[in-house]
Amino acid sequence: MIKAKDSTWLLLICLLIGQLYVPSQGSPIEGDQTDYQEDDYDYGDDGADDSSKGDVTDTLDITMPPPYFEENDLKIEAKPGDDVVLNCDARNFQLSNAVMWYKNKTIIANGQNAIGHRVECMPNNSIVLRDASAEDSDDYYCEILPQMVRQHTTLRVGARLSILCDDRDVTDRSQTFRQGDHHKLECRTYLPGENTIKWSFNGLRLESSPEDIKNGVVILDNIDEQNAGVYQCLGDDGSRYPPHGMVTVDVQYSPKVSTHRHHVNTEEGHTAELYCNYRANPIGRSYFIKDGKTLQLSEKYSLKDSAHNGHNRTTLVIREVGKEDLGEYLCQVENAIGSNEVKVHVSYNPETPQFEDMKVEGTKVTMHWLVRSRQPLSEAILDYQLTGSYTWSTVSVLQTHRHNHTEGIWKITHQLDLPRRGLWHARVKAKNTHGWSNFSPDHDFQIEEDDESIAAPDMDLPPEQIMQAGVGITRGAASALRQLPAITVACGVLLASLLLRVRL
Ligand SMILES: *[C@@H]1O[C@H](CO)[C@@H](O)[C@H](O)[C@H]1NC(C)=O
Ligand SMILES: *[C@@H]1O[C@H](CO)[C@@H](O)[C@H](O)[C@H]1NC(C)=O
Ligand SMILES: *[C@@H]1O[C@H](CO)[C@@H](O)[C@H](O)[C@H]1NC(C)=O
Ligand SMILES: *[C@@H]1O[C@H](CO)[C@@H](O)[C@H](O)[C@H]1NC(C)=O
Repeated sequence: MIKAKDSTWLLLICLLIGQLYVPSQGSPIEGDQTDYQEDDYDYGDDGADDSSKGDVTDTLDITMPPPYFEENDLKIEAKPGDDVVLNCDARNFQLSNAVMWYKNKTIIANGQNAIGHRVECMPNNSIVLRDASAEDSDDYYCEILPQMVRQHTTLRVGARLSILCDDRDVTDRSQTFRQGDHHKLECRTYLPGENTIKWSFNGLRLESSPEDIKNGVVILDNIDEQNAGVYQCLGDDGSRYPPHGMVTVDVQYSPKVSTHRHHVNTEEGHTAELYCNYRANPIGRSYFIKDGKTLQLSEKYSLKDSAHNGHNRTTLVIREVGKEDLGEYLCQVENAIGSNEVKVHVSYNPETPQFEDMKVEGTKVTMHWLVRSRQPLSEAILDYQLTGSYTWSTVSVLQTHRHNHTEGIWKITHQLDLPRRGLWHARVKAKNTHGWSNFSPDHDFQIEEDDESIAAPDMDLPPEQIMQAGVGITRGAASALRQLPAITVACGVLLASLLLRVRL
């Protein structure tokens, strides 16, 4: 009954179309005519088209126009977990037509029969894909038989979690940043329930700015070397296998150049080794420069490259050192990003002393320093000071001893009796037959309270009164004390005993 009625209607419509269509051929009319003109659409290489076309023109009253789609390519964006409806909304769909659904050439629905439990067929030929996931992203099409007319739908289902860098998806990819850049990493999740976004960097949880991290955002400002590494994001939804992603960040930076020996001691006729340590990305090239000239390999100079933990090193070896070889050298390292340099000073003076270690027993402090000098050391000076005090107290060291003959290393061992707890600073310089070294960098150390009777009353005294309190002399004496020769201070007043020991 209904069928008969339907086909009657369709026939009627077709006849009407026929009427309208013919006159419109001669004078194209805009607007409503578009649909009808599309009837000329070439449906493909199949024979069915030709026959149906023939039918339309030859026997209008018997055969229907073939089915067609207003759009042949559709795009759908969906989130994981969505139920996605894929439509197959054909015009001129007849009861004699059948629909097949394909996912990238594999049948997923045949008429009203779905293959696979997540696919459901609708009476209007649409299918519903339940609980979509990233794997469902593909090219789908429905095909109307027997004419084999197709409509393609490209479905893209976002991942459950994705990492965006400056709004581009970079999940599980790598990124190269440049020193000084500013970038935003954002972790987005599409999860049905509540979840907490957790960022980590090189395996350690990132906690820096809680507000941003809560929103899944990591801001990298003024990027430098230390920002290079693996950033991971986890969408903690309480499940056993929470979604996660990562992005590997590479940072390109201009060379970082340093040396562990800013001053190099040598002797007339001896060799000198200058060390230039650097890190660079991309790879850096190093040069040594003296008096504005780049040093070339020669009888005089040789270069050694070596790799160390975390940096590379170029060593300049100067042979047969003479007076003309003393002075300042530059080590310059350059790469595609920029260039940087470090200065190395070559002289006959001792190198800057280096703190080795110390022992604290009550108020007695024993400290050790190492100094490099090929020439014998004649003297050393130790300065020390309590935080907040304006001046250094000085002790002089009259004797010096070799620690390692082959390397020209000297050891200074010194014992101080410090009258007050607090944060102390100490530094040392040494003299050889040519002159003085620089002062070592301050070594800071804490003297803890262990005898309350000594420490407690001193707590709020101004710096001038430290020595007064510690050694029981007057304020006037304390200021006079600074004018005394260092050796007197050491031996007479401060109970500082100096022990230079031979450690050979
Ligand atoms: C087909 O039916 C489904 C389910 O009722 C609906 O969501 C969809 O919009 C329909 N498609 C068209 C083209 O009307
Ligand atoms: C379709 O499948 C082929 C092979 O199975 C695959 O290479 C291709 O990427 C798929 N197309 C899409 C759009 O996923
Ligand atoms: C050290 O040099 C090598 C090549 O000579 C390079 O691959 C490496 O990245 C460099 N290391 C650093 C920290 O610059
Ligand atoms: C001195 O230094 C050399 C070279 O580093 C080493 O072989 C030697 O054992 C050192 N000697 C002493 C006493 O530390």
